[in-house]
Amino acid sequence: MTEQGTPPSRGNNLDPWYHHYAERTSGLAASEVRALFAVASRPEVVSLAGGMPYVSALPEDLVVGAMERVMREQGPVALQYGSGQGVPALREQILEVMALEGISGSADDVVVTTGSQHALELFSKLFIDPGDVVLAEGPSYVTAMVIFRSYQAEVDHVPMDEHGLIPSALREHIARLKAAGRRVKFLYTVPTFHNPAGVTLSWERRLEILEIAKANDILVLEDNPYGLLYFGDKPPAAMRSVERDGVVYLGTFSKTLAPGFRVGWALAPHAIREKLILANEAAVLSPSSFSQLVISEYLREADWKGQIDTFRGVYRERKEAMISALKEHLPELTWTDPNGGFYVWLTLPSHLDSKAMLPRAVTELVAYTPGTAFFADGSGAQNIRLSFCYPTPESIRVGIRRLANVINGEQDLLDTFAGTGNLSAPRLNRNSSNPPTDLR
Ligand SMILES: Cc1ncc(COP(=O)(O)O)c(C=O)c1O
Repeated sequence: MTEQGTPPSRGNNLDPWYHHYAERTSGLAASEVRALFAVASRPEVVSLAGGMPYVSALPEDLVVGAMERVMREQGPVALQYGSGQGVPALREQILEVMALEGISGSADDVVVTTGSQHALELFSKLFIDPGDVVLAEGPSYVTAMVIFRSYQAEVDHVPMDEHGLIPSALREHIARLKAAGRRVKFLYTVPTFHNPAGVTLSWERRLEILEIAKANDILVLEDNPYGLLYFGDKPPAAMRSVERDGVVYLGTFSKTLAPGFRVGWALAPHAIREKLILANEAAVLSPSSFSQLVISEYLREADWKGQIDTFRGVYRERKEAMISALKEHLPELTWTDPNGGFYVWLTLPSHLDSKAMLPRAVTELVAYTPGTAFFADGSGAQNIRLSFCYPTPESIRVGIRRLANVINGEQDLLDTFAGTGNLSAPRLNRNSSNPPTDLR
């Protein structure tokens, strides 16, 4: 008890404003592994943790040329505030980008945002009331969940398998939540080359999930940063390509060009689009005119589709390096083998804990993101997200070899104790070629 007889507060007593923060900030806690990632950014550590695009594969000249032309020809406009909806010419060009994924729409319904991250924020601001439920895949994109929680929503994870979100599980979750009197506002989904699971929702399931959402009056928030980064066959068309009214679609130039521009967009039904513009204006007045004009110029002048091909080639090579290193060094484990995007989802033997193992991994100069980061409910200890986007193929091979040492070291330690205790779990889940049937 304090002098005044009040109980001591939880949390950071060094912050004199601790009691003044809005309730919603309780969802803004720094991740437990953040401090470790500071260490993991040292050059001797192979980081398989982050999701940074390999921007060095983008020729500097292309960007510099576009910047120069913009400044020479439209300098005063580029340096000025713009519209809250975004530059009209760019919104037209965004339609061309989305057409590659089967989407047709009107430039009037596109709202340019400060990365798709900001579109997630604006959308959440429009739709979430405290206590609402947001349905999301389990696992789900960590920084979307941070936003949902900051608006005091509860994230309810619907399981996935190697074909993505499981429709029957979605039905069950909706029924259970309705029976409990909960209000489900929307389904957040990354259907193509999922972050972190690396899987892609099949076409049949896309249709089925859209039907379920419609029948239950649930809006779908389709987040698609990776769809154009496929390694083999094209993935199924976007969900928005079949459903206009019930889907808000998010896209970004972060992965197909560069995240430093911070330009993404939302394609939304009319009424929602109107509110998104108002929310965008309230938040940032207008997205960066300079970035938008440079991207618009780049799309006009450069071989942007060829550049996406170059990115595909780079990431395909890195993914293959990762999968072959996993086969070589950790043949007993299971993982997803993505056909695009940035991530592999690794499953450990059930008695290993990826978060507990991370300090040891960093000591052995390899970093990853523990699966627990991608669940709102604390599950995921048996999983690891491995990113292959940034390190070179050679570093990836070194990183996986180090990771195998860490995993085998932990395993040996447990086996040693298993001789005296009763920890003799089956050594490993032996099968590397088939992805796990359930990603929970
Ligand atoms: C699934 C997903 N959504 C959204 C984002 C945010 O991207 P940006 O704000 O750079 O467009 C990311 C970034 O990694 C992501 O993986």
